[in-house]
Amino acid sequence: MKVLRTPIVAVLGHVDHGKTTLLDRIRRSNVTAREAGGITQHIGATEIPLSAIKEICKDIWNVNVVIPGLLFIDTPGHKAFTNLRRRGGALADLAILIVDINEGFKPQTEEALMILKTFKTPFIVAANKIDKIPGWQSNEGMPFMKSYAMQDEVVRQRLDNRIYELIGELYQRGFSADRFDRIRDFTRNVAIVPISALTGEGIPELLMLLVGLAQRYLEKSLRLHVEGKARGTVLEVKEEKGLGLTFDAILYDGTLRVGDRIAIGGVEGVIVTHVRGILRPRPAKEMRLESRFKSVESVTAAAGIKVVAPDIEGVLAGSEFEVVESDEDIKAFEQRIKQE
Ligand code: GTP
Ligand code: NA
Ligand code: MG
Repeated sequence: MKVLRTPIVAVLGHVDHGKTTLLDRIRRSNVTAREAGGITQHIGATEIPLSAIKEICKDIWNVNVVIPGLLFIDTPGHKAFTNLRRRGGALADLAILIVDINEGFKPQTEEALMILKTFKTPFIVAANKIDKIPGWQSNEGMPFMKSYAMQDEVVRQRLDNRIYELIGELYQRGFSADRFDRIRDFTRNVAIVPISALTGEGIPELLMLLVGLAQRYLEKSLRLHVEGKARGTVLEVKEEKGLGLTFDAILYDGTLRVGDRIAIGGVEGVIVTHVRGILRPRPAKEMRLESRFKSVESVTAAAGIKVVAPDIEGVLAGSEFEVVESDEDIKAFEQRIKQE
């Protein structure tokens, strides 16, 4: 039987439009506050189990879901980090393009959209910070439709005007978009979900639509089936107390086991080493900021992992790795990364 893998969802958008705050709200921890200067400088990975998603969506849940959860990738919005946004985009099965509804399209919104176009990644637009629309009365954690219905007519109009502007911006770039509740065919139209990452309004609909998109995508594509051979991308190489050099990675295919021989694209050619240990952050904790990990014998994609392995000095963020069993496997891997 084929195992369904956890879809990878990249969160992309202009600096300070609310990517980390959104993931923070979904996790219900307080990550943004702990980031120096509030500017994200690395890619972060957080696994949200299906049970947690269902809990957030409980008032509106109406889907039959077979995915185990979602793996969210946080990316930086600062203009200096194009390479990290591209890496996040390349890894993603789906994406959230987050736009501050009060600011509209900005340079890195545009850039993120181009990345999604390049990789043909299905995405949802989250029109964030609706709580800052003048006159908006916040309703903590409420579905957007319910909170919207409770606003004054003039406030609803303000929101709708901003949504129309977003629809126009997307149209100019070749995308037909609409507010999510007015869409019939989600395969042809991009859904815009008004949210507040701060108050949680609209997050139930955003997550429901993501899960729905993942399901539809899964029916059409085999990319969500775990194929067997473990493959991943290195996010960061880090020295860890008591462990030595380790690397954080996204495992995007297969099952990785302690003892596996792996090939990694290094600075001076391919490095062949073996997995001495696999560490996992606790569920709903971001890997980048988590100090308490648990040790596991094996892990199945998609997942954020920390790998303990010898001889990884030449490994760089962005390197690909793969399990290898023979010299032919190593040659094939060398060919693959040369082509990319
Ligand atoms: P980078 O990682 O630096 O690109 O920024 P980001 O997109 O992760 O934005 P971040 O989550 O750091 O939020 C930037 C600021 O906007 C913070 O002060 C947040 O508190 C604030 N913010 C984010 N979402 C909302 C929202 O829905 N409403 C309001 N009022 N403020 C928000
Ligand atoms: Na920020
Ligand atoms: Mg951030």
